[in-house]
Amino acid sequence: MPSKYISPISIEAISNLCGELEKNNSINKSDFARYHVKRGLRNEDGTGVMAGLTRICSVEGYYILDGERVAKEGKLSYRGYDINQIVSSCIKENRFGFEEVIWLLLFGELPTVMQLNSLYEVIDACRFLPDDFIEDTIIKNPSRDIMNKLARCIMCLYSYDENPDDISVQNVLRQSMQLIAQCPTIMTTAYQVKRRSYYGKSMYLHPIKKGMSTAEYILRQTRNDKVYTDEEAKLLDIILMLHADHGGGNNSTFVTRVLTSSGTDTYAAIAAGIGSLKGPRHGGANVKATRMMTEIIENVSDPTDEGQIKDYLVKILNKEAGDGLGLIYGMGHAVYTISDPRAVILKNSARELAYRAGYEKEFKTLENIEKVTPGLLRELKGDEKEICANVDLYSGLCYKVLNIPGDLFTPLFASARIVGWCAHRLEELTSSKRIIRPAYKSVSQRRDYVALDKR
Ligand code: COA
Repeated sequence: MPSKYISPISIEAISNLCGELEKNNSINKSDFARYHVKRGLRNEDGTGVMAGLTRICSVEGYYILDGERVAKEGKLSYRGYDINQIVSSCIKENRFGFEEVIWLLLFGELPTVMQLNSLYEVIDACRFLPDDFIEDTIIKNPSRDIMNKLARCIMCLYSYDENPDDISVQNVLRQSMQLIAQCPTIMTTAYQVKRRSYYGKSMYLHPIKKGMSTAEYILRQTRNDKVYTDEEAKLLDIILMLHADHGGGNNSTFVTRVLTSSGTDTYAAIAAGIGSLKGPRHGGANVKATRMMTEIIENVSDPTDEGQIKDYLVKILNKEAGDGLGLIYGMGHAVYTISDPRAVILKNSARELAYRAGYEKEFKTLENIEKVTPGLLRELKGDEKEICANVDLYSGLCYKVLNIPGDLFTPLFASARIVGWCAHRLEELTSSKRIIRPAYKSVSQRRDYVALDKR
């Protein structure tokens, strides 16, 4: 554990200032409507403000008819290919698909066998971290949060790059492929170091083995005994495919595009994406959803009973249970209405494994949350908007089935989504060429400056 640092600023000392701070930062809700501000970059009907064009990914959850938003089944496609087709083809052919998705998202076409093999070779060569990096950057300075460690390690890799600031497509592509390959190495190593530094357990830094799919590599590096089954690796592979991209507007990808538009370096842009993904309203929801599930099971006598689940969810919405924020994690989405295709695939892929691994109660609890929440939100909030389970409702249970520790839930999301961030950064560099710079209207009154001795 790092040596303890006691902040010289005491919370008590600054808490008296908070009232003034809040007063001077509060903005009348009515002003947002008055000045036509698109809060959260959403239009009045909840649809997202159109901020760009992309050829990489399409996310659909509604269509517009006579100016009205109409709900429809969710659809996700990478470079025009439906995610259902991509995943089901890989299952049918009993092969790993995440590497194919990397190629597809970065280059825009499905890879040939030769191209796929060459990608495996590049990834193998890039999995390693620079000499002494693990010792100097990860072991000597561990973090209680692997997302925090991941972002810091990526920022540190800037110093090891001989050409870090060159934003030509060739150079950014080189950096992107390196980071996509290194991210699982950083994540699994940081987790092992955390085991030792924070949990007092042994850490296992297995030598890197070549020729593995990313899913196999992650399971091998995470487990003490390096052992996993093909079925487990194939489930993780599906999870990685489903998380690889989600359009230009999701918070972390938009953040990456915003930073890219300023002309900054790859390491800064990707570290910012990680910072965004960590948030519980975004990728961090997979940890929160799992905690919520565990809390419900601990507090409800029969979690297979819809009525009991409903009563507990009411408590969560009323901020009397859960994390106190009134959110049911794993439910709701900015675009999807009737269904999130990723959640549908995950639920179907996880069911059998979950039952076999003894997680039947957990699976049924999640199913009940999915069933009960839409009606409950309509009842309590009077919101007629369709709401469905999102990818984070079932992903945590999948990780539990795979014996993956909670510390790695969101970092695993990052290890997949880094592909999307890189693809969108490359698209921003090649197509947009304009700094993203929206406007904020000032609602302050003008005031005359008061000299220090007159205040
Ligand atoms: N639990 C409780 N309330 C929810 C909710 C949920 N899961 N999802 C939406 N709502 C509420 C919102 O808080 C909002 O209420 P308000 O008007 O009183 O502020 C209202 O419903 C409108 O929400 P909507 O426009 O559909 O959501 P959004 O686009 O602003 O937010 C999410 C989308 C994903 C951030 C939101 O659904 C959420 O916070 N879900 C839980 C976190 C989560 O699972 N995130 C992972 C996303 S993949």
